[in-house]
Amino acid sequence: MKIIIRKDYQQLSQWTADYIAERINNFKPTKEKPFVLGLPTGSSPLGTYKALIKLNKERAVNFENVITFNMDEYVGLDKDHEQSYHYFMWENFFNHIDIPAENVNILNGMASDLDKECADYEAKMKELGGIELFLGGIGPDGHIAFNEPGSSLASRTRIKTLNFNTIKANARFFDNDIHLVPRMALTVGVGTVMDSREVVVIINGFHKARALRQVVEEGVNHMWTVSMLQMHRHAVIVCDDEATMELKAETVKYFKEIEQIIDNEFPDLD
Ligand code: GLP
Repeated sequence: MKIIIRKDYQQLSQWTADYIAERINNFKPTKEKPFVLGLPTGSSPLGTYKALIKLNKERAVNFENVITFNMDEYVGLDKDHEQSYHYFMWENFFNHIDIPAENVNILNGMASDLDKECADYEAKMKELGGIELFLGGIGPDGHIAFNEPGSSLASRTRIKTLNFNTIKANARFFDNDIHLVPRMALTVGVGTVMDSREVVVIINGFHKARALRQVVEEGVNHMWTVSMLQMHRHAVIVCDDEATMELKAETVKYFKEIEQIIDNEFPDLD
């Protein structure tokens, strides 16, 4: 697992956007061989989306042959609802880049058969050869997508009941009224994320420091579902200084030195 530590949110976002753009460009996607990208919602990826929009406008990357799959969606919110993840994604990303609408996949939380909706989503990913890179964020309790603490680490796309902490955390988007927050969501599973050829997770802010410690310094644990990244062959965590506050100084030094070695800037040996 690679840990990239940046000074602040702005630098973390730029690094992540540059990395995704580089991966897409190196892949040289075509209509026949599209780049399949998994995406999250939330405040964590907002800076990355802004930076990717800028790169797209500068023609440093294009999304014509990129197919996206979002991680999750609330059950019962129409796609025009301002708090739906559909609305979020179009408002904050897709409306500003050159991606064809038919290349965007987001679970439909209004589907009449939710189980079928989830099974079809998994089937479509498979049909396209799987996800090349899954970008993710986490909740303060270390959940990835809506895989709440205690979720099976082998889970696939399914309906999930949200826990009280997540409902409280998301109430800020629903006039701070917990009663307005949907109680259920459709979400890709931990297993779905693990099948992706690469996973990049953004972890920023003091409030995620405990989760970062769990995933980096503790073992794999279903109570911190993102810790499953330890079992992934190509996992990258991009964090800011604030999120590292609960890590041992030794851990931070270790990962910073690895980055220097990769960049050919050898640490001072004195
Ligand atoms: C929700 C989403 C997650 C997201 C998390 C954190 O629970 N289902 O996918 O990672 O919120 O959101 P934020 O980035 O705003 O902290």
